[in-house]
Amino acid sequence: MDFFQYRDGQLFCEDVAVDDIMAKVGSPVYIYSKATFERHYDALASAFAELDPIVCYSIKSCGNLNIIKLLAKRGCGMDVVSGGELFRAQQAGADMSKIVYAGVGKTDPEIEAGIEAGIGWFNIESEAEFENISAIAKRLGKTASGAVRVNPDVYDPKTHAKTSTGRKETKFGVDIERAKRFFESYGHDEHCRLTAIHLHIGSPIYSPEPYVRAITKALELIDGLRASGYTVDTLDIGGGYAADYETGKSPAYTAYAEAIVPLLRGRDLRVIIEPGRTISGNAGVLACKVSYIKTGGSKTFAIVDTGMHHLIRPSFYEGFHFTWPTKVADEHVPTARAQEMDMPGLQTYDVVGPICETSDTLAKGRKLPPLKRGDHLCIFTAGAYGMVMASNYNAMPRPAEVLVDGGEAAVIRRRETYDDLVEQERRVTAI
Ligand code: LLP
Repeated sequence: MDFFQYRDGQLFCEDVAVDDIMAKVGSPVYIYSKATFERHYDALASAFAELDPIVCYSIKSCGNLNIIKLLAKRGCGMDVVSGGELFRAQQAGADMSKIVYAGVGKTDPEIEAGIEAGIGWFNIESEAEFENISAIAKRLGKTASGAVRVNPDVYDPKTHAKTSTGRKETKFGVDIERAKRFFESYGHDEHCRLTAIHLHIGSPIYSPEPYVRAITKALELIDGLRASGYTVDTLDIGGGYAADYETGKSPAYTAYAEAIVPLLRGRDLRVIIEPGRTISGNAGVLACKVSYIKTGGSKTFAIVDTGMHHLIRPSFYEGFHFTWPTKVADEHVPTARAQEMDMPGLQTYDVVGPICETSDTLAKGRKLPPLKRGDHLCIFTAGAYGMVMASNYNAMPRPAEVLVDGGEAAVIRRRETYDDLVEQERRVTAI
């Protein structure tokens, strides 16, 4: 699962106590475990090894340069969705030939940057975008490579509506019938080689079955296209593999692979996968401090020094994040991370942040060991869509990020200051 474990009632990230990190860099702080990133990348790559896939880590899930670097060093490609993410990948020294670039609204400068960098594939979302990429490649005297993003009208009922993308009525991709016409129009284009299909049905997808349905439809499409004389040599099956928000609730990589690999075996296709949260989710936590305990009606609130501005998932997607003190008595050492913890002496809290919004709630009606002002709490599985979605709402600086490697810890992004908050506003320039 991950390398955040209790030793004698004290939470450790690998071999470093979370409280020691907080004593040095303050609170709140995102803490990442290098070994967890590596373990998840390796385990996923080895589950799918028979297909020899290009694994493109989804930078949008957790994009600190130092994290991209450590994955790139292991041979991982990258999935980017903006010029900014492409820049991050370049700065981290990622292999450009293993970059896939998705997104419905790529601008001309972003497309130019992708072509100039020599990225592997543009995952193309519409006819208008294809024509634009082709025209820009022609102007630059280069050849781009593209995949049509197909939405196979498949979805997982357990995926939150806000992160489900595989249905017909979505802004992403084109439906299967339109994909055929896409190849009829552009399948022999000289400036943008259209030889791939891209799928991404949403995230997280809690069972292999929606992938099986989507890939089966994509393979029928590919067979038809090949029969009509088009070259289709690559299938990108997207991301969405779950993280362990709760112990034992998500499929193992081998379970996804056992269902998916047989479909793609012997198909003469290069396979790409785009995992984000399954690599980064459990590799990070958000550690914070209890500012106050307050009662209101029948409720007890633990007010902490972080909230929706640093981790928006609970407010925005009703996302569950296991939350537990960094230091506990023996009887409160969790043996599993669950929504309902069954231990003696727990009390029920709403864990809330300082933001002036009722939705600034990190955990509702959660049974926790008794808390007091000054206690440290750890919000687990916050590595994915945590810091990358953090904001400065209410003029709150963003937390520091720390990367732990065995017994060593390093700040990989310093805590923002009040000066950082106003820096871009100091100089007023007439236009
Ligand atoms: N590929 C494409 C084309 C995507 O749009 C995404 C995520 C991924 C791969 C990676 O998905 P993952 O493996 O990380 O599940 N902020 C939301 C999730 C938004 C996902 C956006 N696309 C959340 O916190 O749940």
